Amino acid sequence: MNTTDKDRVLIFDTTLRDGEQSPGATMTHDEKLEIAELLDDMGVDIIEAGFPIASEGDFRAVAEIADRSKQSVICGLARAQLPDIDRCWEAVRRSERPRIHTFIGTSPLHRAIPNLSQDEMAERIHETVTHARNLCDNVQWSPMDATRTEWDYLRRVVEIAIKAGATTINIPDTVGYTAPRESADLIRRLIEDVPGADEVVFATHCHNDLGMATANALAAVEGGARQIECTINGLGERAGNTALEEVVMALRTRGDIMPWDTRVDTKKIMHISRRVATVSGFPVQFNKAIVGKNAFAHESGIHQDGMLKNAETFEIMRPEDVGLAATNLVMGKHSGRAALRDKLKNLGVDVGDNQLKDIFVRFKELADRKKEVYDEDILALVTATTTDGHKDRLQLVNLAVTCGTGGPAEATLEMEIDGTEASATCQGDGPVDATFKAVRELHPNKARLQLYQVHAVTEGTDAQATVSVRLEEDGMIATGQSADTDTVVASAKAYINALNRLIVRREKSGPGSDQKEISYKDVG
Ligand code: KIV
Ligand code: ZN
Repeated sequence: MNTTDKDRVLIFDTTLRDGEQSPGATMTHDEKLEIAELLDDMGVDIIEAGFPIASEGDFRAVAEIADRSKQSVICGLARAQLPDIDRCWEAVRRSERPRIHTFIGTSPLHRAIPNLSQDEMAERIHETVTHARNLCDNVQWSPMDATRTEWDYLRRVVEIAIKAGATTINIPDTVGYTAPRESADLIRRLIEDVPGADEVVFATHCHNDLGMATANALAAVEGGARQIECTINGLGERAGNTALEEVVMALRTRGDIMPWDTRVDTKKIMHISRRVATVSGFPVQFNKAIVGKNAFAHESGIHQDGMLKNAETFEIMRPEDVGLAATNLVMGKHSGRAALRDKLKNLGVDVGDNQLKDIFVRFKELADRKKEVYDEDILALVTATTTDGHKDRLQLVNLAVTCGTGGPAEATLEMEIDGTEASATCQGDGPVDATFKAVRELHPNKARLQLYQVHAVTEGTDAQATVSVRLEEDGMIATGQSADTDTVVASAKAYINALNRLIVRREKSGPGSDQKEISYKDVG
């Protein structure tokens, strides 16, 4: 198909801003860079990399992403305040394609926060958008809570923003309140009624509080929007944002009734989905559309029979199209390094020689203990060997645990701390509690356990467990992951991994540097 601009929908990914801002989904600096690189590589048009005035950490992440991006426009968020906009520009200007995104809450409830009259707010919008446009040619403006803003006022402020130089007008459904027909009508009416509307791109930004974010975003496109704001796995505050994978695959699969293209390489979807789930610590629900573990699994007898005769009987998309390997070829202890590299490539994972060496060692260890090593096992090994490139100061040497119905569990832990071995024995309420106590005895710390999560990677009692641990200390957050066929060993390694990351962050940035000082909801 010959695609013109009118047929294109721009994909604006805000995993690193709206997604990361959701409580508990904090990512480290290196994780943000990794996700940005994957987004850039998969063909996302615009990456909202963060909110530069929120903290030093946010600023550094946006600036570095801007420096490194190859194809995507790099956007930063700024409230309707001149210092915010200046700080945002400082961070994004290093990109070859920078964008400033400034916003203010325009609904009656949001206007009440800074206590501005309609006229005062209109004046603020004119001043801040003009300022942003004097700095940058590419300016996006959003009337936050647009779907609950009075129609006449919304129309008026959109016109002001366009006249002041905004190039994209984003219409957020901040609280997930709208419904598809209303979403389409709102965009259509704005495009018809507002002078200058045909000179700008209209965008849609939906939240999923009523489970309608994807439907609302696609309806907005029917109404004339040509930019969808979304996140990987639908990550985001409360019920999340529109999921990138859902809108992209819906447009691709139903091109017959929604004839708009995106530039996204859909084969990269599964890999980035897994990485975002891992680094954010927000697992993907099993039956989640497109990226859930069961999205392409056909277990019932009738389904399997139909699938064997003709895959289209129950499948509207091919697993390969989202980057799931067509066959889940089992690897075993006789598989060599070349086979492993090949398998990783098929799974969409590029690793350097050193990382391959590490993964191979762990793969061999695993294959000795587990008869069949599946794709999911291998991906878990990749996650477990991904470090921030720092030498770990704490390392697990040995762990022995006794537990049963008769009394408290006991863990004897040997750990290397800065090259010196030490050991401790502790009792606890179950083997994991006893193990974590032993870690704390050897490395006293006041980090608070925010999350402890265990997943079986595959079926069977010899399945690997992947464990995520999130710790918080003085406002700094670090997540550790590990995988092992022994759940307690995986837990110990994940906990130690999180502590190592916390140590690095503390050393690198000093206490509290990544702490969110300002939220995008502080609208004043
Ligand atoms: O949901 C929302 O309104 C936002 C704005 C900052 C665009 O995220
Ligand atoms: Zn939002």
